[in-house]
Amino acid sequence: MNRSLYTKLVIIILIIIISLMAVVGVFLTRGVRSFYLNEFYNQMQEVFSSRQLADDLRVAANSENAAAHMADIIRGYSGKLGIDSGTRNYYILDGGSGAYLTGSAAEGNGLEITPNIVTAIGGKEGYVSDPGAAYMDVALPVSGESGSYIIYIMDNKETAQSLNDQLFRIIIQALVVGLIISVLLSLLLAKTMIAPIQDLTMAAKKVAGGDFSEKLENHSKDEIGILTQTFNDMAGRLEDTLDDLTKSEQMRREFVANVSHELRTPITSIRSYAETLGEDTEIPDVTRQKFLEVILNESDRMAKIVQDLLTLSRFDAGSISFVFERFSFEKSVRDVYNATVMEAQSHKHDFVLEFRTPIPDILGDRARIEQVLLNMVSNAVKYTKDGGKMRMTAGAKNGEVWCSVRDNGIGIPKEDVTKVFDRFYRVDKARSRESGGTGLGLSIAKEIVARHGGRMELESREGKGTNITVWLPSEGPEDVCRP
Ligand SMILES: Nc1ncnc2c1ncn2[C@@H]1O[C@H](COP(=O)(O)OP(=O)(O)OP(=O)(O)O)[C@@H](O)[C@H]1O
Ligand SMILES: [Mg+2]
Repeated sequence: MNRSLYTKLVIIILIIIISLMAVVGVFLTRGVRSFYLNEFYNQMQEVFSSRQLADDLRVAANSENAAAHMADIIRGYSGKLGIDSGTRNYYILDGGSGAYLTGSAAEGNGLEITPNIVTAIGGKEGYVSDPGAAYMDVALPVSGESGSYIIYIMDNKETAQSLNDQLFRIIIQALVVGLIISVLLSLLLAKTMIAPIQDLTMAAKKVAGGDFSEKLENHSKDEIGILTQTFNDMAGRLEDTLDDLTKSEQMRREFVANVSHELRTPITSIRSYAETLGEDTEIPDVTRQKFLEVILNESDRMAKIVQDLLTLSRFDAGSISFVFERFSFEKSVRDVYNATVMEAQSHKHDFVLEFRTPIPDILGDRARIEQVLLNMVSNAVKYTKDGGKMRMTAGAKNGEVWCSVRDNGIGIPKEDVTKVFDRFYRVDKARSRESGGTGLGLSIAKEIVARHGGRMELESREGKGTNITVWLPSEGPEDVCRP
């Protein structure tokens, strides 16, 4: 059965109201009945316990025409006994047979012999009545010289019954009003509870279909409010994850395209030079030598790209191992300077080295740190016009060592400053290629520095120059095991 929550709610409320009314009804009618019964017996007992009445009755029983006398006396008490000749009557019965002699009811002959009458025939007072019976009665034996009699009062419970009928009508009316209220209440409940759930369902369907545009409004702090908030958070996170996935998929495609392109260029030139060498046997030795040089350079270039890619993929796979040891950072800076100063001079650059403070030994992978420094210097050499100024500076501060390479070269446009650390990113592809760059140097450097718990900072102004700085904690990254 596929009932909506709203229908279920209405049915539950209806069941609650109907059962509540039924319980109230049963208790009320029972209460009314037992109240009447108690009242009746209290009233009877009060009247018949009067000594005066007992004496009067005894005197009457001794007289001639005793039944009529007794009837007179009882009639005198009819107000106190509640006798109305309608629902409640008195009877004077024969004490031996229970036969009707006289009474307030027009026709008393059809009178049933009730258990109380039987008790009175036996000479005792009959004051007990079955609550389930359709009547309540009292039978009192009175004997005198003219015989024995029974004073019998019987109420047919019609008053109680009519009160109960009235109560029943009221309960039915209350039930109808209650049902109307309950339906209205259900509508209100539906608005406050079910409407947000329906909104959630719609939004969830949209999210399932990949549409994240809708954010659910949330005004309440109750369970449904929390659910809505959680749903919004979940949808937001899902959207971010999907965005990330799309971005990384896009990056992967770009990366593959870049790799293919970078490798195809040297392969094409190697192939065309080799073909020319193979086909043309008349080539002069000098040209042949030049061609061979190009072939060697291009294959070196390919080897470098492949080597760099391998390094990066090892970083990605987390399979690269670092050899952490304590070494002199100052010496590394000096070594890199010495190794590159000749190259810088060949481009007529004015290249100076400066130490600002004493530099402590640091914990790190010496070869890889030097690889970072080397790339920083070689970039400065490559991207500065011949005859430029280059400065390599190093120092230590607050538990960190730093080294920066400043040049007055071509600089990097503002919008590219953050991108130069991306794989294969080069500001000017043609220019970088000319100088042998593949755009992998800084991305590798960034990975190496990150694994040392350090950071890289790059400031640059297009046409003015660049300053790149590496910072490294002298105690290595936090998770390293120290020798
Ligand atoms: N000092 C600098 N001055 C101007 N541009 C720079 C400088 N350093 C880096 N760049 C720019 O950043 C890009 C990326 O540098 P990166 O070191 O990653 O690659 P590359 O030097 O081109 O190639 P590789 O280092 O792999 O041989 C360079 O292509 C260049 O455009
Ligand atoms: Mg480089």
